[in-house]
Amino acid sequence: MISKANMHRFIVFITYLLISFLLVMCNAKKKDNIPLIPFPNQFEPKTGEFKFSKNTSIISDFTKLNEYFASEIERFSGVQINIEQSDFKNRIQFVLDTTIINPEGYTIEVESELIKISSSTEKGIFLGMQTIFQMISPNIKSAKSGNSFTIPCSIIKDEPAFSWRGLNLDCARHFMEKDFIKRYIDILAYYKFNTFHWHLTEDQGWRIEIKKYPKLTEIGAWRKETDDSTYGGFYTQEDIKEIVEYAESRFINIVPEIEMPGHSLASLASYPENSCTGGPFEVTNIWGVHKDIYCAGREETFTFLQNILDEVIELFPGKYIHIGGDEAPKDRWKECSKCQARIKSEGLKDEHELQSYFIKRIVNYLHSKGKEVIGWEEILEGGLAPGVIVQSWLGYDGAVEAAKLGHYAIYSPTSHTYFDYDPDNFNLELVYSFNPIPQELAKDERKFILGSEANMWSERAPQETIDSKLFPRMLALSEVLWKDPHNSEYGANYNEFYSRVQNHYADLTARGIKFGRESKIFEPKSSYDKTKREFTIEVIQGLKDLVIRYTTDGTEPNSNSNEYKKPIIVQNTSIIKIGAFRDNQKIGKISQLPFKFHKGLNATISLTKRYHEKYKASGQNALIDGIRGTDDFRDGNWQGYEGVDFEAIIDLGSEQTISKVESSFFFDSNSYIFLPENVVISLSLDGENYFDERKIINEIPQKNSEILIKNFTGKYDAKQAHYIKLKAESIKVCPDWHPGANAPSWLFVDEIVIE
Ligand code: ACM
Ligand code: ZN
Repeated sequence: MISKANMHRFIVFITYLLISFLLVMCNAKKKDNIPLIPFPNQFEPKTGEFKFSKNTSIISDFTKLNEYFASEIERFSGVQINIEQSDFKNRIQFVLDTTIINPEGYTIEVESELIKISSSTEKGIFLGMQTIFQMISPNIKSAKSGNSFTIPCSIIKDEPAFSWRGLNLDCARHFMEKDFIKRYIDILAYYKFNTFHWHLTEDQGWRIEIKKYPKLTEIGAWRKETDDSTYGGFYTQEDIKEIVEYAESRFINIVPEIEMPGHSLASLASYPENSCTGGPFEVTNIWGVHKDIYCAGREETFTFLQNILDEVIELFPGKYIHIGGDEAPKDRWKECSKCQARIKSEGLKDEHELQSYFIKRIVNYLHSKGKEVIGWEEILEGGLAPGVIVQSWLGYDGAVEAAKLGHYAIYSPTSHTYFDYDPDNFNLELVYSFNPIPQELAKDERKFILGSEANMWSERAPQETIDSKLFPRMLALSEVLWKDPHNSEYGANYNEFYSRVQNHYADLTARGIKFGRESKIFEPKSSYDKTKREFTIEVIQGLKDLVIRYTTDGTEPNSNSNEYKKPIIVQNTSIIKIGAFRDNQKIGKISQLPFKFHKGLNATISLTKRYHEKYKASGQNALIDGIRGTDDFRDGNWQGYEGVDFEAIIDLGSEQTISKVESSFFFDSNSYIFLPENVVISLSLDGENYFDERKIINEIPQKNSEILIKNFTGKYDAKQAHYIKLKAESIKVCPDWHPGANAPSWLFVDEIVIE
């Protein structure tokens, strides 16, 4: 029996649970209604609303902030508010509050007739404003024509976890226009980033005007493309001043990067005397690492670089200068008498210590000018210059080593912050899982990790694609760097973040950000039924609001093509093309599945050497799975072998009549993928004695910048065979003339077609 008292307690308890649940739901709903990113550390919704209208006024002493806030409100909503009009009741105040310790921390109180943003700095107030801007509904932002709008009453307390929250934008591989940079400075501010790392010089282009060395932009800013067109552009010193001033008004630090000693071909093409060989050189259009770098033995080269840095210092008043330091091959230094003389005279052990000498000289020079210096982690080579900040990218080792040496570090690994990588494998969830503190660090070493940056390299990303590369994934980095969910009390709740992102899309759209994908759009999975002799393709959809359409006749799918509703059956050799559509617009790439019915489909294959894990295609049977590789070596059909020969033995299961054996190899020297020297095909009845050898020699020169697929074919006059052996001889290492000389080369092979 339940006593009356117990019953009473039970009812009180249930009521308490219900109210708690409702409160939690209310809060959760509030979060959904206002999908702030990064979400503030404390957000307490209150009842009521504040109304922005022509009867609203800012009352504050911060003239510039007042103007900025009013003009942004107008830009976002079309609503014109007033400044310093004390007769209006609806007021906005910006207040200095020295009790807020973090210089980027702020509090906001939104009441029905007052918004108050407090911080100990103008920067903190500015960051608080961004939260207010995010609270403006996307409908208002799209329409921009209302007379008024409201935001809900609330109390917000907020501060960042990391002091370095950046974007590294490569404006060298592809030039980006001045207004585009300013737009990105606003975008960075909106997501509470504070650093714009401006990658200005590269092998493929020099983008900053230097008055003392005009050829840097007359020659170095322009490259010849394969179609003979000229590509390039640069920022004049006036452009740079304008951008620097703009960034200052948005509290964004600009960190200019002037690369040395490597990634400097555009500079050497302009002034070849600064190299080891004297040139001549061309501004290259080939991506990758190039061997010609600044000569470390030549005194005048240092003078040249210091003169450039003098102008850079004049232009960029910020505290930091990035000097690159990454990917500098030592080939030229090994053969240069001046570099070798320097090694001797300075008592250095080798070319790695020469790199350290080079970097230290430049670092000392910049320190003498009052600048802090950042370099990529290769500056650890041969000994770190005192006081320098290390930006690690290869993994966590560089950041860990730097921190253990007591140096500050920016931890921006390829695994989580290289936004040039395709969202297929580098998805939103992966970015959100990024922990900016390498776990190898002891507690007292963690303070050396300043934060991180999104690295937006632009080899394959001209300006018009940048939005789609950075968004939505940049939202995850924004929250990771502001809230540090993996190390803080907030915890990482991806589902909650994900739902906020879904609600944030309307805001991106309203602000004209052409966001791309979160992850793979869709993934076709095909299977082969040996008895029915047919393929079944099932399409797994990664984004729900898309329509999947396909064709079976080799044409490009469009918004009128067949809609995918159930698995597709393929019974004949054909190309199935699949695409995703939203509002009749194609989203992402078309997936091509070229099916080939041949005698190998029912066979078994053994591989003498194993394929590389990164390019395994569908695995063991990929080469006889009936799906041929396309002109994209990452399409999931090509199988990659690094630095080794290829050999496969195919067991047909029984004796069969063979007229043709053909294998395809991929060629893309820029990606270190070369054709085999030759392919040898032979047949066997017992799996031991092979006969009728066909040796097909490759006749395409390896020094060729085209991307192509070559078939190696052995023809037979109706021969009986039970086993087929196919060997391909790899060149194993990249040739001497290649940027990756002596690094392992790749063989990429697909479908071994047996007829
Ligand atoms: C780099 O990606 N080479 C810093
Ligand atoms: Zn040299």
